[in-house]
Amino acid sequence: MTASLEPARRHPGPDNASARSVRVWDLPTRLFHWALTLTVICLLATGFGGVMEWHFRFGYTALSLLLFRVIWGFIGGRWSRFSSFVYAPRSLIAYLRGQPHHPNHLVGHTPLGALSVFALLAILIAQVSTGLVADDEISASGPLTRFVSGAVVSLASSWHVTFGLWTVITLVIVHIVAIFFYVRVKRLQLLRPMIDGDKQVYAQPAAPSRDDAGSRALALVVFIVCGGFAAWIASLRV
Ligand code: HEM
Ligand code: HEM
Repeated sequence: MTASLEPARRHPGPDNASARSVRVWDLPTRLFHWALTLTVICLLATGFGGVMEWHFRFGYTALSLLLFRVIWGFIGGRWSRFSSFVYAPRSLIAYLRGQPHHPNHLVGHTPLGALSVFALLAILIAQVSTGLVADDEISASGPLTRFVSGAVVSLASSWHVTFGLWTVITLVIVHIVAIFFYVRVKRLQLLRPMIDGDKQVYAQPAAPSRDDAGSRALALVVFIVCGGFAAWIASLRV
C-alpha cells in the first residue's frame, strides 16, 4: 500500500474534517526526550568546563534515561516501541521518493526519522559506556575503570573525548536542523507532538499510544529501577 506525503503536510483546519488528533508520544517518552536534551547539554558544558563531579552526576542521569528508553522501546506506548519504527530499506527508499508504503509510516517516527533516532540513541549509549571506563589521568576516573584493562581504559577515553564526542555533537546538530527543516520547509508537524503528545493524523487506521495513569505509573517504576541501577554503578567508583 502506498500513501502520499501530502496529507501529513497539511495543517488541521475547518476544511479538514478527516483529521483526527491521535496520542502519538506518551508522557514518559516526551519527558525522556526533554530530560535527555537538558542532560546532554549539561554533559557537554561540564565536560568542556572540566566540572567533573557534575559531569559524572549528569552522566549517571543519562545512563538512567537511556536504560529507561531501551526498556520503554519494548513495553511503552505503541508509537514509542522500536517495533513501530524498524523499517525495511525499501520503506525508507519509498518514503524518500515521497510515496510511503503505508499511511502508518507518517504517524510515529518516519523511516528517515527512525534512522536518526537509532543513530542518536546508539552514539549516546556508546558515549555513556565509554565514560564509565574513561580516565583523564589527572583526577577523573569512571566508576568501572578498575574492572577493565589499561588498554580498554585508554581506548575508551580516547573515543570519549574524540570520535564519540564529535559524533554526538554532529548528530545533535543534524537532528535539530532536520527538525526545523521538516517543520518550516516541509511543513510536517513534528515539534508540537513532542510537547503535547498529539498529532493530527489523516491516515486510517491510526491507533493511539496508551498514555493513561497505569502506563505512566509503570514508566515511573521502570525509571526508578533504572535510576537505582545507575546509582549502584556510581557506588562502584573508588
Ligand atoms: C552523552 C554522554 C556524555 C557526553 C556528551 C560527555 C562529554 C564529555 C566531554 C565534552 C568531555 C571533555 C572532553 C575534553 O576535555 O576534550 C568528557 C570527558 C570525560 N567524561 Fe564524559 N560525557 C558523557 C558521559 C560520561 C559518563 C557517563 C561518564 C562517567 C560516568 C563520563 C566521564 C568522563 C571522563 C572520566 C572524562 C575525562 C576523560 C579524559 O579526559 O580522558 N562521561 N566527557
Ligand atoms: C541534545 C539535544 C537532543 C537530543 C540528544 C535529542 C534526542 C532525540 C531522540 C533520542 C529522539 C527520539 C525520541 C524517542 O522516540 O524516544 C528525538 C526525537 C525528537 N526530537 Fe530531539 N533531541 C535533542 C534536541 C532536540 C531539540 C532542541 C528539539 C526541538 C527543537 C528536538 C525535537 C525533536 C522532535 C520533534 C522529535 C520527534 C521526531 C519525530 O517525530 O520523528 N530535539 N530527539
